[in-house]
Amino acid sequence: MLQLTSQDLSRIKTDTLIIPVGDDQALYRSAALSDWARKPEALGSFSAAAKDIIDIYQPEGLAIARVVFVGLGPVGDLTAEGLRQAAGQGIRRAWQDRPGNAVLAVPDMNLPEALTPAQVLAAAAEGAYLANHTLSAYKSKKKKFPLKGIRLLVAAEHTRAFRPLLKRVELTCRGTTLARDWVNLPANDKPPRELAAMITREADQAGVTTKRMDARQLQRHKMGALLAVGSGSRHPPQMLFLDHKPPKSRQTVVLVGKGVTFDAGGLNLKPTGAIEMMKIDMAGAAAVAAAVITAARLGLKKRVVGILPLVENMVSGTAFRPGDIVRSYSGQTIEIGNTDAEGRLILADALAYAVKHYRPGCIIDLATLTGACVVALGERIAGLFSPEEPLREQIIASSRHTHERCWPLPMPDDYRELLKSDLADMRNIGPGRWGGAIVAALFLSRFVGDTPWAHIDIAGPAHTKKASAYSEAGGTGFGVRLLCDLLERL
Ligand code: BES
Ligand code: MN
Ligand code: ZN
Repeated sequence: MLQLTSQDLSRIKTDTLIIPVGDDQALYRSAALSDWARKPEALGSFSAAAKDIIDIYQPEGLAIARVVFVGLGPVGDLTAEGLRQAAGQGIRRAWQDRPGNAVLAVPDMNLPEALTPAQVLAAAAEGAYLANHTLSAYKSKKKKFPLKGIRLLVAAEHTRAFRPLLKRVELTCRGTTLARDWVNLPANDKPPRELAAMITREADQAGVTTKRMDARQLQRHKMGALLAVGSGSRHPPQMLFLDHKPPKSRQTVVLVGKGVTFDAGGLNLKPTGAIEMMKIDMAGAAAVAAAVITAARLGLKKRVVGILPLVENMVSGTAFRPGDIVRSYSGQTIEIGNTDAEGRLILADALAYAVKHYRPGCIIDLATLTGACVVALGERIAGLFSPEEPLREQIIASSRHTHERCWPLPMPDDYRELLKSDLADMRNIGPGRWGGAIVAALFLSRFVGDTPWAHIDIAGPAHTKKASAYSEAGGTGFGVRLLCDLLERL
């Protein structure tokens, strides 16, 4: 979808040219582009402030139907995220009632010192790619079409050098949109077995090895916690394994993703207002699957294993109950205090299995785990839990690069007693509602032994009710770019 061009403005033929404009300094070395970038201010209704946008049709002297100008605000304050958003906004404006194409001018002058030309290109490309995506499979009649092709206009000396970078951006963003599509699918079209099959098809194409355990095999492996959660649904649970194993790889990273294809809450049924969005409760699994697949497409030299416990948490006469005691894969018993605290149960079995069978250098899990985390950090920032300081710092560094924000939360030892059970080794909830995200993380920590581990609670940022500059309403694909960035530096 993305290409580089350094054509002269006068020779470019396209439906839409997008020019990001700073509100104080010129951003383009090309004289023609600079001239055009100055034009909209004369119109009097464009100030080049961030988010400001205007278009001109049939621009004189160009073989282009329309020019879209997007404001960037003061050039000195420009950030990679500002560029992603401006690029995304411009691309969405360029959508038409038929599949067209566009050229996006990439700023190459007076940039803040903190932004290298490569970072500017990557940010513009990311915003453009991610904005140019929609799940249209369920619409009988389409009104607006994503662009067929987007060319990024750069200086001639850069076209060759930027090509590998652009390829990498395109592959990671493709991973993000893949995760979004899976998250946006309605729960009736992605019960565990179907979702496993869809992910497997994509993994096959990328050369990732897969293995799937069905309910019988889960029973044989004594995955009692996962099976308990799945017991209320007529769609049996599955555990899907994705393995990117390059030759001669030494280190193994295991990624675990919560894959609840619908979270009704079980017998502790969710009320109206809380249940409607619960098809997104597999966003962790979607992000992990897309990250492993992307790692393979990028030719990453490390072994990366994705473990996806897939299950539907439903209400029925066969459902597990509050008060039940289940034996998890690790051998530890769990008293069920609330059937709606199901994510930690399925992760418990996946984490314990990961430790035992892969002996990984580290484990990272992504999960839409608690509403409490959304209360703490809001809808756009994920909670980060890890007893391992260096791993925590690496995740935070990656999260800064990709602007998939993670904020560290504590795992205080004295809170562990909140999980005490009279009858079993632990309960799956605390006695009250305070510190719910922390209590959940402490629960998970009991299943990783001393393997370096981090838990990212993405209940907030996994989806959005309102479209943003480069993500439509719905699944955001949060975590895919973060994990790809992280896997390269671990
Ligand atoms: N899937 C939910 C968490 C969630 C909430 C995700 C909002 C996305 C948006 C999780 O399984 C859940 O129900 N958690 C409970 C835990 C409680 C019963 C201890 C919660 O957060 O209320
Ligand atoms: Mn739940
Ligand atoms: Zn859930």
